[in-house]
Amino acid sequence: MPAVVSARGLVKKYGDLVAVDHIDLQIEKGEVFGFLGPNGAGKSTTMHIIQGTSPLTAGRLEVLGMDITARAKEVKALIGVAPQENNLDPDFTVLRNLTSYARYFSIPPAQAKKRALELLDMMQLTEKKDTEIEQLSGGMKRRLIMARALINDPQLLILDEPTTGLDPQARHLIWEKIRDLQKRGTTIILATHYMDEAEQLCDRLVIMEKGKFLLEGTPRALIEEQVGSCVMEVIDPPGQGIEDYLATTGGQVERSADRIYLYSRQCQVIQSEFRGRFPDVYSTVRPSTLEDVYLKLTGRRLRD
Ligand SMILES: Nc1ncnc2c1ncn2[C@@H]1O[C@H](COP(=O)(O)OP(=O)(O)OP(=O)(O)O)[C@@H](O)[C@H]1O
Ligand SMILES: [Mg+2]
Repeated sequence: MPAVVSARGLVKKYGDLVAVDHIDLQIEKGEVFGFLGPNGAGKSTTMHIIQGTSPLTAGRLEVLGMDITARAKEVKALIGVAPQENNLDPDFTVLRNLTSYARYFSIPPAQAKKRALELLDMMQLTEKKDTEIEQLSGGMKRRLIMARALINDPQLLILDEPTTGLDPQARHLIWEKIRDLQKRGTTIILATHYMDEAEQLCDRLVIMEKGKFLLEGTPRALIEEQVGSCVMEVIDPPGQGIEDYLATTGGQVERSADRIYLYSRQCQVIQSEFRGRFPDVYSTVRPSTLEDVYLKLTGRRLRD
């Protein structure tokens, strides 16, 4: 079966700025594929190219077996998109936003209305169906954008930070829906800044920076390869040489302002020795997460 997304040497330039820098990408049917990376890494730009709304500067890209440059219109008919920015139509009510969007896909009006009502029910927005967009809360707008992305029953769903600003219940609602759609064979591309979300949902993911992929793999494999199974965190009182000591344990040491992180496969053993040597210093051991991988790779400090 051909890949749902197949890109070789994909480049996107805005003037001198290279927003996407020679990436190769293969996404298979039924995968949930994640894009992670700092602000400005090129996640949304890559998604815009895949969804056919931004032309590529160089490279080759096939989506659902079709060349995106030659057949963007056909591709668009088969995919669903929830963009990062709110682009709901402020002149229409909630329900009309869905039914008018359905017209792009030539869905007959009666069927469009039925489908729209089902999607509103799914996103728990039925009560708001006749409300104007400006009277919705931020989280409700995000849920409506998600509902709109599903109006054409897409084969490929592109979700750019779908849960940003959602309350915990709404986040879980979206997660359940993503899992549901995956079970039915939908391929999903997801950009997120929430590492727990990526770890739970993504079969594979990339961590992107400055238009390039730094890493690609399954969440489990990336955690194992990059940071090992556990982390010991130590609050570092200055002047005791703790960082130097930890460096001798064979694990990888990293620090933030006042904490030292030791990535290792033997944190428990190291911690018990550490406690013998530094009895008054606070330390804790926990399983490592995708967030550790991400911060190790992109740095613990705020970036520009
Ligand atoms: N329309 C545009 N014109 C010029 N530059 C752009 C345009 N859109 C994006 N860029 C630039 O391209 C780079 C990548 O932006 P992009 O929106 O893809 O980042 P992102 O990874 O989605 O970030 P975020 O996490 O903030 O959403 C940035 O340097 C951005 O300033
Ligand atoms: Mg973005």
